[in-house]
This record gives sequence, C-alpha cells and structure tokens, in this order.
Amino acid sequence: MTKTVLFSAPAASWESYAPFLKNLFDKVGLNINLVQDTNNPLNVDYIIYAPNGPVQDFAPYKNVKLIQSLWAGVETALQNKTLTQPLARMVDPGMSAGMADYVLGHVMRHHLGMALHGSVQPGEWRNDTAAPLACNRTVGFLGIGALGMYCAHAVAKQGFNVLGWSRNLKSDDVVKCYAGADGFAQVLGQSDILVLLMPDTPETLNLINADTIAQMKDGAAIINPGRGPLIDDAALLVALDSDKLSGATLDVFRIEPLPADDPYWTHPKVLVTPHIASETRLETSAAVVVENIGRGETGKPFLHLVDRSAGY
Ligand code: GLV
Repeated sequence: MTKTVLFSAPAASWESYAPFLKNLFDKVGLNINLVQDTNNPLNVDYIIYAPNGPVQDFAPYKNVKLIQSLWAGVETALQNKTLTQPLARMVDPGMSAGMADYVLGHVMRHHLGMALHGSVQPGEWRNDTAAPLACNRTVGFLGIGALGMYCAHAVAKQGFNVLGWSRNLKSDDVVKCYAGADGFAQVLGQSDILVLLMPDTPETLNLINADTIAQMKDGAAIINPGRGPLIDDAALLVALDSDKLSGATLDVFRIEPLPADDPYWTHPKVLVTPHIASETRLETSAAVVVENIGRGETGKPFLHLVDRSAGY
C-alpha cells in the first residue's frame, strides 16, 4: 500500500530533497507518495519537518506515525502545542562531521591565541605567546550527545585532554565523562576551552551565568555552537570585560539574526559567526529520514525519538 509523506520544510529544500528522497525510497522498496502539500491531512502517514516549513498546525494530521525533524534542535517543535505526534530529532552524520570541523577550528583558534595576533599593531612583536602543547590544554564539552561526542573525539584526536558532561553518565575510551552537579563543577573548573553543545530546554536556560563563570578557570574561552539561551549574555560580557574569560566564539543567539547593535558584534574578544557552525546535509540526512520511515513500516522502533519531558 502506498504511504503518504508530507515534506514540510522551506520550498528551496524541497527542490534538493525531493528527487533524492524519491530515489532512496525506491531503492529500499518503500512505496511512498512524497508530497509538498495536501488537501487530505488524514491521509498523511509521515511528516518531514522543519520549524520554518509551511505546516504550523499539526492537529489535522491525526494518522501521522512520525514527524521527522530535519533539525537537530527541537525546541521550536516542542513549543508548538498542536504537535503531539511522535517526534524524531535529526541525528545526521554529515551535520556531526561539519560541526567537528567548526569546533576543532575554533578550539585551535583559541588554543593558538589567533585573536591576539589578528589585533596587534604594526611593529608590535609579541613573541612571548607561543601556545602550550595541545596535550597540556583541556577542552570541556557541556553536552556529549551524538553531536558533542563526535566533536569531542575530533578534538581529542588533535591531542587535547578532553572532558565531557552529560545529564546521564556516559563512558568513553577517550573522553573523560562526568555527570551531575559535582561533575559539572569539575568540567567547569578544569577546562581551558569550554564548548557548549547542549539543547535549549528549561533546564539549560542560562547555564553559563555569573555563578558558573565564577567556577571556570581564569582566562578560559567559550565556544557556543549549541543554542543562544545557554548563555546569560550580560554575565558573559562582564566576564570578558574583566578578563575572567579570554574570549568567546558565538554561533547562536537569543535573537537571530543577531541585531546590528548587539555588543557582541564589536567586542574585541568575541567572534560572531551567523549560525553556520554546521547544518543538516542532504545525502546523510535523507538516509536517516528513509531509515526512520522504513522502521515505521516494518514495525521497528523509531530512532532518535524526542523525550518530551527532557525537552530533546
Ligand atoms: C540547527 O541549528 C539545527 O538544530 O539543526
């Protein structure tokens, strides 16, 4: 029997995804009618979803078995009270690989003190600034889910000492894992560079605030490719201005695009990047979508289901 999959993401992504998905559905023998819109919501079996897609009211889609997000972050989906169907977040190997490049690049930038060398005056010969070896620097990850753990491994491969914190304790061969409040303090207190890759949930709101910054090492740097609300912005600016922290690379913000008058833009210790740390990649994410719909059709449990009580 033919199943209907509604693609509810911006029109531009339909152009690239539609032929790719159709090809993959055929390849795995799934009989799918992939549509961009429908007059018959009761006939829809699956929805491929992006928060900025056309469907905002999910109530009429009463027979949908799964809403598969194309985004890793699901905070917008969870704020939509009409979206009550099972929801899967995107865990995309392509997104993880891109994120690892970004994180490693910016870890190296902080590690090597590149911001300083980019800002010296002509003739200012600061040759007292060689970096320690990577093995003498500690990089902490707040959030070692699929994305965080992948990035943590990339950083460890470069020789850094790598720590990771998660809600539930994990174990790993290369990343020293912590959980709980004590573990959180340990990671804060040991990290020279702290990478934020946690989801945006009520529990993670303002995770980096005056109190938690006070527990960090003097001169540490922060990289945030996770979500803007993880940081209390006023507290971070105070910490940068007082030299408690040496720098920040920020990719995500409470308001995006970041308004032109936001102090982050011109702060000498902040590098702003415009939510480009990574993105869902067509080939790898399409394979995840097809795998999950295939699971629905063969009675296997869905991958990457969102736990609504945890918020991710
Ligand atoms: C991007 O920020 C995503 O959540 O996929």
